[in-house]
Amino acid sequence: MNSADGPPALPFPYDAAVLAAEPLRTDRLVLRPLEPADAPDVFEYQRIPEVLRYLPWPRRDRAEGYEHTAKRAAARVLAADGDFFVFAATLPGEPSVAEPAEVEAQPRDRVIGDVMVRVSSVTHAQLELGWVLHPDFQGRGFAREAASAVLDFVFETLRPHRVQAFLDARNAASAALCERLGMRREATILEQEYNDGEWQDTAIYGVLRREWAATLTR
Ligand SMILES: CC(C)(COP(=O)(O)OP(=O)(O)OC[C@H]1O[C@@H](n2cnc3c(N)ncnc32)[C@H](O)[C@@H]1OP(=O)(O)O)[C@@H](O)C(=O)NCCC(=O)NCCS
Repeated sequence: MNSADGPPALPFPYDAAVLAAEPLRTDRLVLRPLEPADAPDVFEYQRIPEVLRYLPWPRRDRAEGYEHTAKRAAARVLAADGDFFVFAATLPGEPSVAEPAEVEAQPRDRVIGDVMVRVSSVTHAQLELGWVLHPDFQGRGFAREAASAVLDFVFETLRPHRVQAFLDARNAASAALCERLGMRREATILEQEYNDGEWQDTAIYGVLRREWAATLTR
């Protein structure tokens, strides 16, 4: 596409419910829309202070955590700025921590993390990704595998001009993940937020559609 053509029209509304029947599959993971029944697995990482350190999530008790997952699972349709949906990253063969009574179903694969897709701007065809992984599964390339599959899906299916990620500037693990995904550090916004008694810098990473496309032919 010539830059003079302007931003592509995003194929909205997009209902991520279709991904329940057609999940993304990587070598080790299956990525499908987050469900309310995933709450016990999500709570396993949502309650860990080191996971929350650089996330804009407050500390939640179990009931609050389950409610948060139900809300995130209910968000499925992308149509306007701020809309989002969440991929649950499940690890086949690793059993969910949920009690059978909690899910009223057969044993499930465990959700070891999640990847969010959010609309930054419909007008300018800009999307945002965000990710979190249970620490027991970090350092094994699972976040990269999940986020890379979601990035490919996003560019192929939702067709944005650019994809970005916002990070606490101290979040070295997330910055390294951005770089492994081919994203570039584009800005550091100084003292953008005041959290936990201190000013926090925000890093912005981004990748353009043509840059992503160039990685496919390497
Ligand atoms: C950000 C986060 C998802 C990154 O997770 P991660 O496991 O470090 O990321 P990756 O999947 O890319 O794994 C990379 C590591 O696995 C190692 N690895 C091992 N086996 C691997 C494999 N088969 N493939 C790729 N990498 C592998 C890499 O060498 C690398 O190790 P290093 O960190 O010592 O260099 C994680 O730190 C997290 O959830 N943090 C808390 C939540 C958070 O801050 N989210 C981001 C908000 S912006």
